Amino acid sequence: MDKLIIRGNVPLRGEVRISGAKNSALPIIAATLLTSAPVRISNIPHLHDVTTIISLLGQMGVSITLDERFNIQVNANNVNCFDAPYELVKTMRASILVLGPLLGRFGQANVSLPGGCAIGTRPVDQHLKGLRAMGATIDVENGYIKATAKNGLQGANIAMDIVTVTGTENIMMAAVLANGQTVIHNAAREPEIEDLAKFLNALGAKITGAGTSIIVIDGVKELTEGSYQVLPDRIETGTYLIAAAITRGKIKLKNTRPDIVESILVKLAETGAYIETGDDWILLDMKDNRPRAVDVSTAPYPAFPTDMQAQMMALNTIAEGTSIITETIFENRFMHVQELQRMGAQISLKGNTAICTGIDQLQGAPTMATDLRASASLVLAGLTAVGETSIDRIYHIDRGYECIEEKLTQLGARIHRMPHKNN
Ligand code: EPU
Repeated sequence: MDKLIIRGNVPLRGEVRISGAKNSALPIIAATLLTSAPVRISNIPHLHDVTTIISLLGQMGVSITLDERFNIQVNANNVNCFDAPYELVKTMRASILVLGPLLGRFGQANVSLPGGCAIGTRPVDQHLKGLRAMGATIDVENGYIKATAKNGLQGANIAMDIVTVTGTENIMMAAVLANGQTVIHNAAREPEIEDLAKFLNALGAKITGAGTSIIVIDGVKELTEGSYQVLPDRIETGTYLIAAAITRGKIKLKNTRPDIVESILVKLAETGAYIETGDDWILLDMKDNRPRAVDVSTAPYPAFPTDMQAQMMALNTIAEGTSIITETIFENRFMHVQELQRMGAQISLKGNTAICTGIDQLQGAPTMATDLRASASLVLAGLTAVGETSIDRIYHIDRGYECIEEKLTQLGARIHRMPHKNN
């Protein structure tokens, strides 16, 4: 397995371009199953998870072509298989996103039930509950979700018991071609949901309220062709902002959107960072100051994102003061703690709360990535630590950060990838 090697303690300086959002690109690519007309999508990030969803659609008979800038042209006019096999779903849970579109357009889907993952058990009961309310017959047999809707789906009033991102997306996609109106109450409000709705509306869907907790979808007969540009990745944005803060550097991020990272900017301002923003850029300057410790508690958007918890903890390990970090979304999302402790961090865990006392300097150490955002926190810790940090199982980071070592090198970091054969 490839490793990342970082020689830290260098302030990062310069400009970096933010990629398209992984968690927008995945549902948007899945949603192309809803139309037989050609669709063009730009600002797709070059990531392992994106390749996985492209392979999944390819196996179903969807034709997908990529140009050299990773724009994709999709044509789902010849879908001949409605299966998402275990072999693919086990490598990426977001494969569940094909369930809603397959059921909505073809009235059938056979999708492997995603198992738990490193960060939690992550059931999909709310997805199934919503689809059943729309008239789908769903059986879970031999590890597969077998769903049918012989006479098509019917619009329904659906109250989600839990705020779920992909659950909201699956139901929204299923409802686009249903008979009549669907209303999703207690919908997730993440910007990626609004992005998916804008994409679907660009193809002729009738969705209002995306980005609020009540989404109304009026079913249409069919979707047409169209083109769409994926929104910038807010978690990549937040991660690079912390890279600047943790190294006491100064970075300008381009091709991003400050309005979708407000909860992160507020916290970074509390650390003492100087922040300036424009329509599509953000500048963060620590003016060589040590960051102050900040408390964070994760919650659904617009609150502080769980996908930034590990990175914020890395920042707190070297901040001035003590912080309390509370994780409310996933039950096991503290696996980075043990690795950060191996670099000298002072963190104690009590249930879903971590108490972190900032120290002057982390020490480089061999570490192991356990999931995507945990691996990002180890990269950040390595960037500030004295000496060499190695991060094993780096495939986790390739799922969600495009060209991370190239981008960090451009900002002055001393980082390189050690391919498996040289380990
Ligand atoms: N949940 C249920 N039942 C359901 C669905 C969810 O109990 O039917 C629970 C989950 O177990 C969790 C909570 O509800 O405790 C929220 O989970 P959610 O469904 O919102 O998560 P997700 O849709 O599976 C997406 C992102 C995650 C991100 C979460 C939370 C995608 C592809 N994934 O996951 O991203 O952490 O929302 O914001 O959009 C990442 O990018 O690293 C990542 C893990």
